[in-house]
Amino acid sequence: MEASYRTTYEASLADPEKFWLEAAGAIEWTGFPRHALDGARAPIYRWFPDGELNTSVNALDRHVAAGRGDQTALVYDSAMLGTQRRYSYRELLAEVERFAGVLRGLGVRAGDRVIIYMPMIPEAAMAMLAAARLGAVHSVVFGGFAARELAARIDDATPAVVVTASGGLEPSRRVEYLPAVDEAIRTAGHKVPNVVVKARDGFGHGVEDFDGGATAWHDWDRLAASAQPVAAVPVKATDPLYILYTSGTTGAPKGVVRDNGSHAVALAWSMKNIYNVGPGDVMWTASDVGWVVGHSYIVYGPLLAGATTVLYEGKPVGTPDAGAFWRVVQDHKVNVLFTAPTALRAIRKADPDAGLLDGYDRSSLRTLFAAGERLDPETYDWIAAALAVPVIDHWWQTETGWAIAANPMGLEPLPVKAGSPTVPVPGYRVEIVDGAGRPVPAGTEGNIVIRLPLPPGTLATLWGNDRRFVESYLQTFEGCYATGDSGYFDGDGYLFVMGRTDDVINVSGHRLSTGAMEQVVAKHPAVAECAVVGVADRLKGQRPSGYVVLKAGAGISPDVLQQELVALVREQIGPVADFKEVRVVAALPKTRSGKVLRKTMRQIADGEEYVVPSTIEDASVIDELVRTMRS
Ligand code: COA
Ligand code: AMP
Repeated sequence: MEASYRTTYEASLADPEKFWLEAAGAIEWTGFPRHALDGARAPIYRWFPDGELNTSVNALDRHVAAGRGDQTALVYDSAMLGTQRRYSYRELLAEVERFAGVLRGLGVRAGDRVIIYMPMIPEAAMAMLAAARLGAVHSVVFGGFAARELAARIDDATPAVVVTASGGLEPSRRVEYLPAVDEAIRTAGHKVPNVVVKARDGFGHGVEDFDGGATAWHDWDRLAASAQPVAAVPVKATDPLYILYTSGTTGAPKGVVRDNGSHAVALAWSMKNIYNVGPGDVMWTASDVGWVVGHSYIVYGPLLAGATTVLYEGKPVGTPDAGAFWRVVQDHKVNVLFTAPTALRAIRKADPDAGLLDGYDRSSLRTLFAAGERLDPETYDWIAAALAVPVIDHWWQTETGWAIAANPMGLEPLPVKAGSPTVPVPGYRVEIVDGAGRPVPAGTEGNIVIRLPLPPGTLATLWGNDRRFVESYLQTFEGCYATGDSGYFDGDGYLFVMGRTDDVINVSGHRLSTGAMEQVVAKHPAVAECAVVGVADRLKGQRPSGYVVLKAGAGISPDVLQQELVALVREQIGPVADFKEVRVVAALPKTRSGKVLRKTMRQIADGEEYVVPSTIEDASVIDELVRTMRS
């Protein structure tokens, strides 16, 4: 009998040990694990404590060894340059082996960190896989972050090497990376010994402009030309594969740690059971390797499954038009496309009748997956009607690394309900609880938590900081991981994820911290205090909106203040923060203990009904705020 979703879900929770050891059979191990779950250090759990493997071997070598070396592993499609390049598994393996040789030549050993600050070019994926090959730990930093954010990650991860490129291509400009890397290296406390640069045409700087100080700058191609391919280093399943920094509620990003064994097992399981993608299929995840979605489903997931992955350098609109996605689907015979709702809304705005779809052959496309924020029912209805293939919302986080709730298309496709990511994925015991941790009935919104242990593939800890891991996620609700999202189950067991319960916001599918923006805004000499809240935005989901109380006698016009604050956030966090709105207010609403009522502010800005907490310090501030915000 075919396994159904329900029986599989129940089996995964009833006997996780058996379930995940069976799933581990999809991976090639140098030491097959005898045990799945290690709870000795609960609430910090580990999976496959005695397993040994190499993730890069599982993504590349094993497919070549199985006779699929000539199959395309990676297609690089640059809408920015108008070019395409295909790499077979054999070619990708050769590139990765060589770059692993480059890293080894620079002294990188198992456990060392390698920061990768790159645009969407194949070398970004090669660098990730090469680090994994050596048992080193990569940490990709999204190219839209400014030097200061890069410096913070350098100080936390203390890398042996930073791998970068001359720059990235945005529709409106070329983004020069090297001056930012240089600034980050100079301002970080940790001294980076080596930088490797993949040179791209048309940029203003090269390694020679920076080499010569405490850090040695090297050209990728020059080193690769003489590098010796390196054999893969087997590592323990519990050794870290990567660190990916994500926004928390404070300015200090959290270094989510993913380990080798459980990551490989979980992603392989998800490729088959959620995405229904196997060897020879083509998956295109239109994201960036700087985000978890890109790690999991541009690089590791498709390659672990022996599929073909598309790495796209471009935008959903304007490169050159809103037909760009459909052109890529046609050109590369994409079977499964994964994107963010904001991209679909951008396409819809530019092409409301989806007329551009007709110009392309989309017969290969089986399913469209969306994540990064809730797929709102209006956008769902539009894209589902236009594409006439299943459109699947699924919910996950940087922390989990793969979907917590989804429609398991490879296991048992379930009827779709617009606005819901469907059901909890096997391995995740999802519950809804009130503020005191008590379960709430179906239909009632509450905190979404996952009862421990989390399944394989989820965060092992925060880099170098078990305590912050426990305090941030595992302490609020006894025995559970707090997702930071709120939502409810309906009577059919479908989950609805409605929004964050903390100060994390989601702008164009990019996760940002309002706390980090507040820290920057507060530095302005005219600002007495400030709050940044995420307000609803029809295109981007949310956009940051700053509210500022001026110091007495500040003597600055609101327009000049706005310009200066926008420039400051752009310079210190990066353009991706998309901080463009500032309002001057007489006072911020606060509780008597001094906590700014950000949720109330957001509700007022969004025109929602709002409740003024009884703990408010001065209720008249709210009336004043309503007048200013709605003016
Ligand atoms: N490097 C440097 N700058 C970057 C960047 C990068 N990798 N990515 C974005 N930026 C810059 C943009 O150029 C823009 O700068 P600007 O203010 O000078 O114009 C700013 O950051 C905001 O960019 P973006 O968020 O892309 O907004 P947009 O208005 O240019 O485009 C969308 C809107 C919806 C088309 C775009 O956000 C998009 O494609 N979103 C999908 C996001 C996604 O896939 N996320 C993955 C999560 S699953
Ligand atoms: P990130 O860590 O950047 O992937 O952001 C994770 C957050 O994005 C989640 O905690 C949610 O708030 C939101 N999110 C991601 N996917 C979805 C989805 N399908 N539905 C609702 N919210 C989502």
